Amino acid sequence: MTKLSTGLVAISMLVASVAYSPFAHSAEGVEINCLGVNNTLVRITGNANYLLLPIQDSNDDARINVLVDGKLEETFFARLAKSRTDFFVPYDLSPYKGKNVVFDVVTPQGRASVRESKEDACWVDLKLADTFDFADAESKYRPAYHHTPLYGWMNDPNGMFYKDGKWHLYYQYNPYGSKWQNMSWGHSVSSDLIHWEHLPVAIKPNGLGTVFSGSCAIDRQGSAGYGENAVIALYTSAGTSQMQSLAASNDNGTTFKIHNANPVITLESEARDPNMFWNEKTGEWNLILAHALDHEMLIFTSPDLKQWTLQSSFGKGLGSQDGVWECPDLFELPLEGENISKWVLICNINPGCPFGGSAAQYFIGDFDGKKFTPDTDASGNVPTKWLDYGKDHYATVSWSNCPDNRRTVIGWMSNWQYANEVPTMQYRSANTLPRDLKLFRGADGDIYVASAPVPELTALRSTLSVNVKKVTANSKKSVYKLPAANDGICEILLNVDARKAQAFNIELDNKNGDKVVMTYDVKNHSMSFDRTKSGKVDFSTHFPAVTIAPTRENNGNIALRLFIDRSSIELFGNDGQFVMTNLVFPTIPYSTLSIQAVGGKAKVSDFKVFSIKQ
Ligand code: FRU
Repeated sequence: MTKLSTGLVAISMLVASVAYSPFAHSAEGVEINCLGVNNTLVRITGNANYLLLPIQDSNDDARINVLVDGKLEETFFARLAKSRTDFFVPYDLSPYKGKNVVFDVVTPQGRASVRESKEDACWVDLKLADTFDFADAESKYRPAYHHTPLYGWMNDPNGMFYKDGKWHLYYQYNPYGSKWQNMSWGHSVSSDLIHWEHLPVAIKPNGLGTVFSGSCAIDRQGSAGYGENAVIALYTSAGTSQMQSLAASNDNGTTFKIHNANPVITLESEARDPNMFWNEKTGEWNLILAHALDHEMLIFTSPDLKQWTLQSSFGKGLGSQDGVWECPDLFELPLEGENISKWVLICNINPGCPFGGSAAQYFIGDFDGKKFTPDTDASGNVPTKWLDYGKDHYATVSWSNCPDNRRTVIGWMSNWQYANEVPTMQYRSANTLPRDLKLFRGADGDIYVASAPVPELTALRSTLSVNVKKVTANSKKSVYKLPAANDGICEILLNVDARKAQAFNIELDNKNGDKVVMTYDVKNHSMSFDRTKSGKVDFSTHFPAVTIAPTRENNGNIALRLFIDRSSIELFGNDGQFVMTNLVFPTIPYSTLSIQAVGGKAKVSDFKVFSIKQ
């Protein structure tokens, strides 16, 4: 049925309802009773699994109180459609079969009359259904091999832990729309970090507020009183103020009991995103908490995850102080090739990215269980270091309890500058590819974090569509085809010896003239990524951008690994010693890859393009 004919149905229903009943429009099994210009009661009379809520992404939020047998079950907000339905989100009715379910809705639109409010697209299109097609129609930009929610909005990864062969990934989730709202912990699980099973929402907004970012740890000794090996979550309850709350799971993170004496930490100023870990050396729990507006991290200790003692703060005046400090992490890593280990303190900041918006900075130093002491560089300063030099890598934190001494992280692949506006609809945002962290000493003598794609990703390789052992690049572009049958979704590997050139270019193009240009500047030891003409860029003035990473080599040689998905490119250099993660929205998939030397010749070896299994 077309939009217009749907509208006509609405009008005829309206005429009928004005004459004979208080109801605007009764879809099968749903009574819609418009009570005022912006207040409507929806009563479920049918027996279906879902109420499908019509959403208009550009409208403002309606407030929805859900009453079950007369009691308030929950309140949530959704951009219910006013003039047209962009997509539906499902409200799960299955737990309430046989009960009286009523939605008390206050819409944001100032309609002039009840008659007019009955014409709102949400009342015309509202319906019950037994199934909801989670495989939405947005295949154009929906990633083929990155983690995304099935539908709805996602931001930060949360509470990740590994247990019994499974990688658990929670995330900031809005199940009722594609913009930030109703923060809950969505939940996915994987046995290979690539294929994700989507599980029901693990922690929903509750009495103290919505559920912001946090962490999980396995409480081996049962110190919190929830039994040995309980999975304990600490998260920020965001109500009028921000407080830290505890929840516990005895079914490996599928469902959580909210601790009955929450909150476990309160402060007089904004603090969030608690990240805790068991400190083997001190035999205590540690927690690092972002003191957001004070641009510092607070470090606590606890014997039982419930009583926390503030030990120190870190960061005043250090690193980038441009934005709020959020989503911390703290862990120890060995330094490659040297017999020492160092602590890494991750501090996500927004804004403050060298290219605008959100980014992940980190500090290297020592930690004695109470205090983090940062290393200084040769000039005695605490340097600002970045985990990734793209624009779309934020809220990066690690899995706890990783196997094989791994320190595996994942980041949110977006940027608060435009995350709510990217040109997708039924879902918004993906996570980066998971990465394993290592420490290395750079050519300047300083210690850095390398983040390399996890080894599991090689299992995604299928056909080898380009396989060149050795080729010399000159000033003319050498053009190679990307796997067309696969929409150009691929992994590209190449080693470049550019000592005899000034620069080396890699370009991705399509027939519509969209292009991405990556340039290795040999003299300046840097690599740039230009997405100013990459396709759809005009949804935000902050989107068209050139990002630049230091390559940290001193010999004109780099090994590159590029992962191309439908709407992202991740470039890893020298096994993760420099990384750039950038979103792109090509109008049609990129179909060619070209290489070119600038100001001389470059030797390229082991040049491979693998199409990726979907
Ligand atoms: C970071 C952040 C966190 C907060 C969450 C809310 O992106 O602002 O500090 O917990 O998002 O969704």
